[in-house]
Amino acid sequence: MQRRKFLKISGLGSISAGLIHSFLTGTRAENSQDEKNLSLMCEPTTADILGPYYRANSPLRSDIVPEDDNDENTVFLSGKVLTNDCSPVEGASVELWQADGESEYYMQAPDFRYRGTFISNADGTYFFNTVVPGHYLNGAQYRPAHLHFRVTKPGFRSIITQLYFEGDPYISIDPWASVPAAALRIIPLVEVNTSEHKHELNFDFSLDIITGTEPELPEFGGDIRYSNPFVSSLNIQSVSDELIIYAAEVLDIQGKLILSKYRLNEQNVSFKTDALRAGLYFLRLKTSKGIGVFRIVKTD
Ligand SMILES: [Fe+2]
Repeated sequence: MQRRKFLKISGLGSISAGLIHSFLTGTRAENSQDEKNLSLMCEPTTADILGPYYRANSPLRSDIVPEDDNDENTVFLSGKVLTNDCSPVEGASVELWQADGESEYYMQAPDFRYRGTFISNADGTYFFNTVVPGHYLNGAQYRPAHLHFRVTKPGFRSIITQLYFEGDPYISIDPWASVPAAALRIIPLVEVNTSEHKHELNFDFSLDIITGTEPELPEFGGDIRYSNPFVSSLNIQSVSDELIIYAAEVLDIQGKLILSKYRLNEQNVSFKTDALRAGLYFLRLKTSKGIGVFRIVKTD
């Protein structure tokens, strides 16, 4: 399957075998619904950070809002779990966790409020009834509203990721939501105002089939501190003893390598950055906890 040949237009939903055939053979889609549904869903879903609020073993359910929550910003979220060759995946575990409308995560709540696990149906579908999460402070700045997911199924790479909402004012300043890999995970929160719910969201996850020859890249689950913005030096520090930095690269916004250090086995790495022009850069770290990419800013 030459999945990179799939057109990149928005609009999510089911894709038919006829459409896939159309793409492989270069013929037109057989109906307009197919064209409308054409999307990037067969590209593997990109990763985002796990964050500090994950709890394992959330209950199997699609209603994750507790009864004592009267938040009117209700959401019906639905979609499919697919493979990167566009087949539905039955039996995938879709875990959702999020802040409530008042930006609170409930780490200790015995009822696992605002958390749930859905096992995808035979046609790959999953759905949740929830509420729009609030913005919360991460250090000095707000994170855009987001939903956290972990999607797993034996035989596939696990997905740990986040969804964001179009038009959120905090996306552009968020180090995770603003990277190019997140662009397809910024989705419209559609206001529908039905008797059941106020908004709808639709998103399809695409699982990458693990091939026998390719080692699985661990998700970046580490805790790293780094100077941001930075001036004359960029200092990177692992916060946990288990996180070892093997390589560090600084790239400009075109992806050109500017500074690098390889063959490391360190918890602290620094670069002299006097010579860099002020502006936006990316810091890419290869660590014992996976590869992480961070957006950093040089100031004068
Ligand atoms: Fe979060």
